[in-house]
Formats: sequence, C-alpha cells, structure tokens
Amino acid sequence: MTPKKKPYYITTPIYYVNAKPHIGTAYTTIAADTLARFMRLDGRDVKFLTGTDEHGQKVEQSALAKGITPQEYVDDISQEFHKLSDLFGFTNDAFIRTTQEHHKKSAQALWMKLVEKGQIYKSTYKGWYSVRDEAFYNEDEIVDGKAPTGTEVTWVEEPSYFFRLSEWQDKLLDLYENNPDFIAPKSRLNEVKSFVKGGLKDLCVSRSSFKWGIPVPNDPDHVMYVWVDALPNYISNLGFPDENATDFKRFWPEAIHILGKDIIRFHGVYWPALLMAAGLPLPKRLFAHGWWTLEGEKISKSTGNTIDPFEVVETYGADQIRYFLLREATFGRDADFSTSALVSRINSDLANDIGNLVQRVLSFAFKHAQGQIPLPNAFTENDKALLKLAADMPEKVREHANEQALHKMCEEIWAVVGEANRYVDKEEPWALRKTGIERMNTVLYVLAETIRHVAIVAQAIIPNAAGKILDQLAVSKDRRDIHALETPLISGVDIPKPEGVFPRIIAEEK
Ligand code: MSP
Repeated sequence: MTPKKKPYYITTPIYYVNAKPHIGTAYTTIAADTLARFMRLDGRDVKFLTGTDEHGQKVEQSALAKGITPQEYVDDISQEFHKLSDLFGFTNDAFIRTTQEHHKKSAQALWMKLVEKGQIYKSTYKGWYSVRDEAFYNEDEIVDGKAPTGTEVTWVEEPSYFFRLSEWQDKLLDLYENNPDFIAPKSRLNEVKSFVKGGLKDLCVSRSSFKWGIPVPNDPDHVMYVWVDALPNYISNLGFPDENATDFKRFWPEAIHILGKDIIRFHGVYWPALLMAAGLPLPKRLFAHGWWTLEGEKISKSTGNTIDPFEVVETYGADQIRYFLLREATFGRDADFSTSALVSRINSDLANDIGNLVQRVLSFAFKHAQGQIPLPNAFTENDKALLKLAADMPEKVREHANEQALHKMCEEIWAVVGEANRYVDKEEPWALRKTGIERMNTVLYVLAETIRHVAIVAQAIIPNAAGKILDQLAVSKDRRDIHALETPLISGVDIPKPEGVFPRIIAEEK
C-alpha cells in the first residue's frame, strides 16, 4: 500500500494593490514557489497560496486620486500579480483576493466567533494611525512626529471595535517558549518575544472613517481593520468557516507562512492571538525573510525605489533571477541587489558551472557515443564517490527545505555541480576516446547520472532550465520526481541534439 501523501501548506502574504509588484514582493513568492515545487517533487500533497490584499484606506485614497472606483482599481492591479505568476511560472494552487465573496464571509465568520467568545467590544480609538503602513502606533512609538517606519501618521479619534489582545500576552509567551520553531529565524522570534513582554494593549479592529473594507457584522458603519480582514485569507482559502471542509481538515494547521520581516508582528502576535481567541489551531511555522535593498536602501513601492521584475526577467531570464535571489541572500537576512552581483552569479554559477557541465557532457555523448548516454562498465572509487555525493544530495536538500534554508538548498545542489566539473577535468573523457572507449562510456554515464540528480532537484529552483536538461537527457516526464532517483538512469537511449541552457549572455563588468 502506498503511504498517504503528507500534506504541506505554504503561503505568501497577500500583496497590497496600492502599486505594481516589484522585485521585493516577487521574492516572497519565488521563495514559497521553490519550497512548494520541492515538496511536490518530494511526493508531498502541496497547497500553495498567494493573492492580493485589496481593502483599506490606502486603496480607497489611490482610487479616488485616479478618479475610478476602488473595485476598478483593485481589479486592475490584481492583474499585475497574475502576470507576475506567469512571468516566473509560479505554481500556486489558488490566488485569493480579499474582495472575493467567500473571503468576506469567512472573515466575518471569524469575527462572529470572536464576538461569541467575548473577545471583541466597542469603544473609542484615540491614537496615531499610518495610512501607508495600515497600522496603529502608540504615543511612545512616534519618532519626530512620524511612525517608527518613517511614514506619516495622523491623529485618529473614532468609535471602534477592539480585540482583547491584552488577555493573550501570557498564552503567546507560552507559545514561543514551548514551540521555539514557531517563528524563524531566531532573531525574529526574539524580536516578537520582547514586543509581547513589553505588554500588549487591546487592538483596534475596525474603522469607521472610510468605507472600503469588509463590513463589520451587524454594524455597517464599521469596516474591519485591514489586518483582521487580511490574515484570515490563510483559512478562508481552505473553506473556513466550514471546519469540515476537505481542505481545511487536510491542510490546517499544517501551514507554513512565508513573509517579510516588516510584517512579523502581525503574523507572530496578532494572528496567533486571533486564532487562539477563536479556538482555532495555530499554523506550524512562520518564516520571516529579510529585505532586498538597492544600493543600501529598502526596495519599496512607496518610496519609488524599485526594480521592475518584468524588465529584469526580460533582460536576464526568469530562472536567472530566481536563482540569483535565492542564492545571493541568506534566507532570513537582508541582501543587496546589484547588477554586478547578478551578472557574476549568472556567468559563474549558471553559465560556467551548470551550463558548461551539461553542454560538455551531452555534446560529447551526442558526437562520440552514438547520440546516447552509454551503458556503464565497472565503477572506480572516483566514480562511486561522485555517484554517492549526487545520491546523498536530495536528502540534504530536503533537510534545508524543512528549515526554509533556501540558499543552502542551492549550495547543496551546486556542490555536486562543482564536484562533477572537477571529475570531468580529472577523468578527461575526450582523451579516453582514443585510449579506452569502455572507460569513456562509464565516465559519461557517471556524469549523466549526476546531472540527472542535479536537474531533478534543481527543478524547484530553475524550473525551465532544469526541465530542458532533463529533456536533453531523454528522461521521461513521469520520471522527474525525487522518488525516480531511487532507480538508475536508463541509459542506451537516444538523446536529442544538445543545446545550451545557460548562455553567457552578458559580458562581466570590469
Ligand atoms: N498586505 C500585507 C500583507 C498581508 S498578509 C496577511 C503586506 N503587503 S505588501 O505588499 O506590502 O508586502 C508583501 C510582502 O512583500 C511582505 O512580505 C514584504 O516584506 C515583502 N516585501 C516588500 N518589499 C520588500 C523588499 N524590498 N524586500 C523583500 N521583501 C519585500 O504587507
């Protein structure tokens, strides 16, 4: 009996539609897509969710400025995020929009659960609000008249609903204590802990000074505060409030939320508190990645300091950008986007290391081994060492994937590529053509088998190129998952004429 596939639920934040996607927002989805792809290759039952966060004062104001309705405005920009999915080949199973009816009903149902449990009450909010951050700030957080993030704040006094967040301080601290892996990396866990230890005030969860939001049940003068509307997307996508819905039962709480470090407080404090208060189980893990900077400044649509993903993909290619973002940053830390670093990664890791390896081996086999990956003869210690390195690699990558260490996933695969290149130089198959065809055949087989391992796992990172490499190795489409690596490469079959997968497209900058 085949074991039932283990569920794996991965999410990105839902993106604000106040501007078009930029490379920083693409990054979160590239990371989640890579993990989703790897887990599928590894035989997991994956659900991967992304989407757009479409309510709030910021959207209402932007639509007004353009002279269109908020709905027209969000329909337009949400499309840009769909185009981004096509651009990078994202494999999300669903795309949620907070303006969808099923989401609105779900968020309202969560609200009602909180009301029933006495967790929401009406009072008056007096304090600072940043429209750009869609966040409330305490008096002691204001620096020189601005939010700690540097955005403008306005003084707000309005009747509001409040969530009894203050009641959850101890439960949250217990959660972090008993589940030290709940928030990663550690630095973020510590940040969240000290925020909660500093004391929690009840959270204002409704606004009445604008209309563009999900109406508060039984009080149409109020709309839900944008985070209380947005966070439940992770469960509304699974069919909540129907707790017997197939997806909800299967994938909640098997959730891993990938997000940027700027929104860790919302995910690490408000979200678990809301869920606990509603009597719902908590997600398994939150991973907060760092920021991409452009010459030291945060890339952000609100400051206009952006890199257009459509432009860089047009110039360098989608796989190239995916690889660069995943490999260049230690996942969880900040990193700087620079053209010279990008070009050097493309030329060294992609064109030189993997591109050349594949090209050298396959062209040689095509020309000098009758257009086939030949059958091997006896393996030497050197052959066995390379084959073992390749065979052990998927397990190492799996361990890193389980910890969302995306840069290490890349490193592990490329360590095999590096070793394979050293093997080619040492074994010199071109010289063997004259001195020993049998040995040449074995060397070619060992290399092709190594390349198959690399390409199968690398499908998670560079899906287009890895797919092409597998085509060139004549690996059938139904034998491209990690399980297929348990049986050896089928050699002695014709391979197509090889073509370069990673051309050295750009001259390296001096
Ligand atoms: N709508 C909220 C999320 C609600 S989730 C229930 C939001 N949206 S956002 O569009 O502003 O940001 C979405 C994600 O993009 C965040 O994870 C954020 O950290 C990430 N990034 C935005 N700029 C970024 C960089 N410059 N670098 C890396 N990630 C960046 O917040």
